[in-house]
Amino acid sequence: MAWFPMAVGFFSLISMVCTVSGIGANWGTQATHPLPPDTVVRLLKQNGFQKVKLFDADYDTLRSLSRSGIEVMVGIPNDMLASLASSMKAAEKWVAKNVSTHISSNNVNIRYVAVGNEPFLETYNGSFLRTTFPALRNVQAALKNANLGNQVKVTVPLNADVYESSNGLPSGGDFRADIHDLMLAIVKFLNDNSAPFTVNIYPFISLYTDANFPVEYAFFDGNASPIVDGQATYSNMFDANYDTLVWALKRNGFENLPIIIGEIGWPTDGNRNANLNYAQRFNQGFMSHILGGNGTPMRAGPIDAYLFSLIDEDAKSIDPGNFERHWGIFTFDGRPKYQLNLGATNSGSVVAAQGVHYLEKKWCVMKPSANLDDPQVAPSVSYACGLADCTSLGYGTTCGNLDARGNISYAFNSYYQKHNQLSSACKFANLSMITKNDPTVGSCTFEIMIQPYYGGAERIFGCLQKPLGFAMVHILFLLTSL
Ligand SMILES: *[C@@H]1O[C@H](CO)[C@@H](O)[C@H](O)[C@H]1NC(C)=O
Ligand SMILES: *[C@@H]1O[C@H](CO)[C@@H](O)[C@H](O)[C@H]1NC(C)=O
Ligand SMILES: *[C@@H]1O[C@H](CO)[C@@H](O)[C@H](O)[C@H]1NC(C)=O
Ligand SMILES: *[C@@H]1O[C@H](CO)[C@@H](O)[C@H](O)[C@H]1NC(C)=O
Repeated sequence: MAWFPMAVGFFSLISMVCTVSGIGANWGTQATHPLPPDTVVRLLKQNGFQKVKLFDADYDTLRSLSRSGIEVMVGIPNDMLASLASSMKAAEKWVAKNVSTHISSNNVNIRYVAVGNEPFLETYNGSFLRTTFPALRNVQAALKNANLGNQVKVTVPLNADVYESSNGLPSGGDFRADIHDLMLAIVKFLNDNSAPFTVNIYPFISLYTDANFPVEYAFFDGNASPIVDGQATYSNMFDANYDTLVWALKRNGFENLPIIIGEIGWPTDGNRNANLNYAQRFNQGFMSHILGGNGTPMRAGPIDAYLFSLIDEDAKSIDPGNFERHWGIFTFDGRPKYQLNLGATNSGSVVAAQGVHYLEKKWCVMKPSANLDDPQVAPSVSYACGLADCTSLGYGTTCGNLDARGNISYAFNSYYQKHNQLSSACKFANLSMITKNDPTVGSCTFEIMIQPYYGGAERIFGCLQKPLGFAMVHILFLLTSL
């Protein structure tokens, strides 16, 4: 049995060599006022993030990661899967434009291509079942043709319900019956190409969708009654879920396939369980767990993960729930929401983005003279909320305790700020007015928006951007000073 310790030593050496340590972040940009990409890259670096996962391949975003050294996972949105699945040429073009150029001309450290985003979610009604795997194959072939096959790996970020358990325990893990063959084909393909399996794990969603979910089991404090599975004991859902996947892979002969946690996190608003206290507890618990380096009962060693997410996105669909716009560790303007030690810097906690430019300190609120029973109130509020963001209003949210006037003001202000404080955006049927007195009450912040970032313009002007940009600023200056 002398081979046994040797084999263990050998494997830990491999994992030391192949695994990039450090924590990653998901950088989504579905916001009315995204921070400029350069500001976000500085934020990532200041906080010691070593990896970033994107949902598309936006040119400015990738260019801002030039020479940053940060490892990048670029994304292919689900709506591009069909064309990439049916055309090798389309896949080659995608790789040339969105990977090769950035690596060779801009020195972006692209390491992964995420083909689709949770394409097998049940809400998609199977729309992407036929296109995901062919798209994955074509993108892999295109990477190989571009001589990037070793450097850049393909993967598919999947939701955790692609696997299930026959006995309610991790050891019963297998791929979901209705997509079992497809999953096996994908897993075999990933394995053949030394590519990782990517899965998103969300204890918050379990708590949100199941009123009987044991709250303590979502966290990492060891307070939940442990679940015993053979030799293994589980006191948190993350480990149990991860090991259900490990068992599913093992059961089908792919025990050593690398796993990446594509998304993990906790939102801070929009639901009674989405609050700063739980988010801090979850994310810090997760960080301490992975910084400990012990892995899970079924798979020892480092865990490769991307937190979800870096920054709040106020333009995301709220179909999943009002919490959807509040997953950020940072607010929309790059301020930390709570103490979080990522173990990556000496500061002991995350720090705010620098050089953020705000609009003026003014707000749109309900006029004191306006009446609550004015028939224009309801349509004005629903108009404002429909086009802006009222997900911080409602039971158990940060602004859930506002009175009726506060509610109305909140809606008006959100609309006004989203529209860059245009005076025409504070004209709600004579119900509203602009004020310089901050209406913020307790934990309920009435935001001031940041200055809009016109990333698209740079792209259109291309190499002319610098001189032209300067000229335009000067012309504007001349015009306004006349
Ligand atoms: C590159 O990625 C962008 C952003 O995801 C996409 O809009 C564009 O179509 C891609 N380019 C090609 C040639 O496929
Ligand atoms: C899925 O089906 C439901 C019910 O048939 C429908 O309401 C929904 O729009 C469909 N979603 C997609 C993405 O096709
Ligand atoms: C404020 O608005 C929220 C969300 O629209 C609503 O649930 C709540 O009842 C309102 N509160 C008052 C006092 O009007
Ligand atoms: C606003 O008030 C003015 C003056 O009282 C009135 O003329 C106008 O019709 C009002 N506008 C609306 C949209 O109620």
